[in-house]
Amino acid sequence: MSPIAPPIVRTMAELRARVGAWRAAGERVGFTPTMGALHEGHLSLVRLAKQRADRAVVSIFVNPTQFAPHEDFDAYPRDEARDAELLAGVGCDLIYAPAAAEMYPPGSSTTVSVAGVSEPLDGAARPGHFAGVATVVTKLLLQAGPDVAVFGEKDYQQLQVIRRLVRDLDIPVEIIGGPTARAEDGLALSSRNAYLTTAERAAAPELHRALAAAVDQLRAGRPVAEAEAEAVARLTRAGFARVDYVEVRGPHDLARLGPGPIAGPARILGAAVLGRTRLIDNLPV
Ligand code: PAF
Repeated sequence: MSPIAPPIVRTMAELRARVGAWRAAGERVGFTPTMGALHEGHLSLVRLAKQRADRAVVSIFVNPTQFAPHEDFDAYPRDEARDAELLAGVGCDLIYAPAAAEMYPPGSSTTVSVAGVSEPLDGAARPGHFAGVATVVTKLLLQAGPDVAVFGEKDYQQLQVIRRLVRDLDIPVEIIGGPTARAEDGLALSSRNAYLTTAERAAAPELHRALAAAVDQLRAGRPVAEAEAEAVARLTRAGFARVDYVEVRGPHDLARLGPGPIAGPARILGAAVLGRTRLIDNLPV
């Protein structure tokens, strides 16, 4: 027998009523914001939320404000019925799937912008992206009022931006980072992997391999600049059309490190385009 699909609410008022009732009964609420098109990576985040709380709420909202006009907002995969079925299997208690007009009623004019950590890397490659993410995540957290919220480490810079905004805006929620789920060949799971052709899918794990090779080199004392340059060359050789960045940075503030050997914990982050699909990945160093 398949598990019962979780109820879906579409308004902030219904969401607050359900979460409020649970919290009034002394239950802890875990929250996993998503844009749908769910895969094992998302499901692992919901399982993590369920370990840390009594109730798991998942939002599904393809947020228009984090896509630039030339990006894939219209093409972004959407299948709410399939998502609901998958969420039933991991014990999700409630889905919040608001329409754009519920999230951004006419007249909305406030944007949350996080200086510093949101500026380099994807912030430079995708102007406006993190303001869109920061604004919708702030709203989602204030709407749901959870005890804990879980975000994937696959979007590592996003996770750091969210940690910063929660601290700066005194939002009373604990932010948890969930480990990146990978295919057997190392490719980080992503809803956008669905865009890859068969040949591109075969080349895609090279992003993870290039970063992993750079990590080995850095641990062996190779200078940052050389390890980064070699990873970029490797991706170009593997057929990536464009490498937006491969950079080693501080693990929390994402500050640039010097070009020499690393002296402490760091994170290597990469973004590159294969065909028409932009892939990102990162690893601890
Ligand atoms: O990581 C995502 O899926 C989105 O950026 C998020 C956090 C749900 C905000 O729209």
